[in-house]
Amino acid sequence: MSDSKLTGRHSDGDLEFNTSTNPSLSEVIAERQSRRQLLGGMVAVAGLFGLSACGGSDDSKSASVVNAGQVGASTSGRVVTLNGSATQAASLSWTQVAGPSVTLTNANTPNPTFIAPSVAAATNLEFRLTAVDGQGRSTSQDTLVTINPAQLGFTAVAKNKNDIVTVPEGYSVSVLYRLGDPILSGVAAYANNGTDTNFAARAGDHHDGMAFFGLAATGTARDANSSTRGLLVMNHENITASYLHANGPTAGAARLEAEAIKEIEAHGVSVVEVTQSGNAWTYVQGGALNRRITPNTPMALSGPARSDAQLKTVYSTDGTGARGTINNCANGITAWGSYLTCEENWAGYFRRASGDNANRSAKAVVALNRYGLSQGAAGANNWATVTAASAADQWKFSKWNTTVDTTKAADGTGDYRNEANQYGWVVEIDPYDANSVPRKRTALGRMGHEGAWPANFVAGRKPVFYMGDDSRGEYFYKFVSATPWSAADANATDRLAIGDKYLDNGTLYVARFDATGQGVWLPLVFGTGVLTAANTTYAFANQADVLINTRLAADAVGATKMDRPEWAAVNPANGEVYLTLTNNNASNRPLTGTNAANPRHYNDPVGTSNNFGNPNGHIIRLREAGDTPEATTFQWDIYAFGAGADLDATNINISGLDATNDFSSPDGLWFSRSSNAGGLVNPLLWIQTDDGAYTDVTNCMMLAAMPGRVGDGGARTITNTGTGGATATQSTFVGKAPGMQLRRFLVGPKECEITGIDSTPDGRTLFVNIQHPGENGSASNITSNWPYSQSGTTAGRPRSATVVITKTDGGVIAL
Ligand code: FEO
Ligand code: CA
Ligand code: CA
Repeated sequence: MSDSKLTGRHSDGDLEFNTSTNPSLSEVIAERQSRRQLLGGMVAVAGLFGLSACGGSDDSKSASVVNAGQVGASTSGRVVTLNGSATQAASLSWTQVAGPSVTLTNANTPNPTFIAPSVAAATNLEFRLTAVDGQGRSTSQDTLVTINPAQLGFTAVAKNKNDIVTVPEGYSVSVLYRLGDPILSGVAAYANNGTDTNFAARAGDHHDGMAFFGLAATGTARDANSSTRGLLVMNHENITASYLHANGPTAGAARLEAEAIKEIEAHGVSVVEVTQSGNAWTYVQGGALNRRITPNTPMALSGPARSDAQLKTVYSTDGTGARGTINNCANGITAWGSYLTCEENWAGYFRRASGDNANRSAKAVVALNRYGLSQGAAGANNWATVTAASAADQWKFSKWNTTVDTTKAADGTGDYRNEANQYGWVVEIDPYDANSVPRKRTALGRMGHEGAWPANFVAGRKPVFYMGDDSRGEYFYKFVSATPWSAADANATDRLAIGDKYLDNGTLYVARFDATGQGVWLPLVFGTGVLTAANTTYAFANQADVLINTRLAADAVGATKMDRPEWAAVNPANGEVYLTLTNNNASNRPLTGTNAANPRHYNDPVGTSNNFGNPNGHIIRLREAGDTPEATTFQWDIYAFGAGADLDATNINISGLDATNDFSSPDGLWFSRSSNAGGLVNPLLWIQTDDGAYTDVTNCMMLAAMPGRVGDGGARTITNTGTGGATATQSTFVGKAPGMQLRRFLVGPKECEITGIDSTPDGRTLFVNIQHPGENGSASNITSNWPYSQSGTTAGRPRSATVVITKTDGGVIAL
């Protein structure tokens, strides 16, 4: 059988026919007959391709006539429909007789379907249609389907500023889980008029990083393979306070307790059950494992910094406990079924009074300043100004004031002077145990953690997690566990104990990207190199001190300053690591401040306002030496540069983006799961934007790509331009232009950010978070009505929400 060529892109699931290269019908018949002889003459063939059987035999009726349909072709991940028919059949059945095994749906009907399996090269699947007539005589015929490797299978969505989520033709989108939706039993529906309370029992605000964890039929046990029932675990990064209260936050020197607690509890993490019934997904109020984790939830500090003097507070006088998590941005997952939530812009919530430096050691002041906690910082939302009605609740507000109380113990056990050190960690959560105490994994360092994405787990190799520190000029890190991966641990039920095994001991590294296109992972290990008490900027005391002050340690070893490191993603097929660098500005990185890995400086005006720096960001990628994540060196290049398609193709739109794929400020980043065709062979990379530079043209978006490999492009020297026309050159390494292998899949509603993504294991349901629609408005000036607008209603306060995207024919998303 010769291979069939593809006939082109289709967004539907129909079997594709290629009459130009297939053998002729007579050739097919001849080959079929010859195959039957080889197979030993399975059954009498009464007819082929609809030819009628002859009558006049001794039988009162002739045997069934079956037609297994034409030879066809499709691509991995698509729905394939077989077209059979039979006459005088009492029953029909299809079976697979050759090729990679697939599941036939409706196998006893003329037109069963299957999802084309992942293949690396054209591969034939053979199916047999058998008909049994009323006298028990069976007749069968075989047909071949050629499956070709996966390809992007959708038409790009146009940029737009509509107040809805737009997806490609052939896809549907529905709203699943919105700000305020009640998750615990007995909690009222969300009125969304500022009167709602009890956010510790509702969906929080600003949905962000998210993962789907499969549930067994019991509704309480893990089934990692379930694609119809699971737990969505997601971060609630921040709030849009202007919509949370009847008329926005009440003015005054002190915040009202009721408003502050609402704002506090709208942060944190959700664990919520979701189920599919028919084609519809719903969340389950009262699901057995539903849970809100908030800035008030008790947690444990774990790893090398546990018990360190810098972590002692009035709550945890031995430095082993913590209360709460905040500004949970991106996320990670582990192979043992736990969720990693990452504390990003926690520093901005803390108040530190003017004059506080005088009550601190010089070292402590250096540390606080390095994390943006300068004295005089007011703290977002002014929660520390609340006087609680009950003294027992006062800590919920007072802890946001990290000012030294000179009347309290000098070791910090009487106040909240060390409270800020309890944030900035990666926190591990067991979603399958609603009573479990989350653990802050101090071995992974303290920073503005964007995410913590694992390298592919390989038995006998040490697990590795890649982590961006999102602030201008910050760094890219990885944690290498001390303990090689044992695959049996994937199914353990004491997941946090497995976390102790892999996440509490290991080596934290920070990346240096060299001008040669190579890079080095620099270990942050106390006592080595400059990480000693002799360091003149900051005298490191021990490894806990290095971890609590990760940024100072990374400064000391000479890491490369980056253009705001956001999400990392790992190609499941080859292990290459992608990192979004969302943007930078001229004041933080001037024309002369570029480096090979952050090479552009240009102006991209928004309206009439100049916007110098790298306002559109880029996506860098690296290949670890020897393709092993434990390596200490790597090769890098830049996969794609964000840019409007209209910008200078030589020095700004270097990736040659056009109307189908131009974007700005990449942030969320994720590869499709390797449990379906989207994450195998040539896996899909998903890119989400949090944009300020291109919002005059389009709302934020999500794109899908089939990227190439590190080194598929080459060296390039670009000319940068700063204010006043000054120029400078910068050499870098640029990947092959993405071209049609990068396409816009989704555009969000007004004033939103697209962030957070996962799919079911089968890749046929995609969950995406829409964060802060209408973020520039207020209760009195509503600037988006999403998600109400998704179904045509042009009223209502906007709500962050999770959407579900499915392909109308049930195929794997984007293929
Ligand atoms: Fe929360 Fe860096 O985005
Ligand atoms: Ca955000
Ligand atoms: Ca982000």
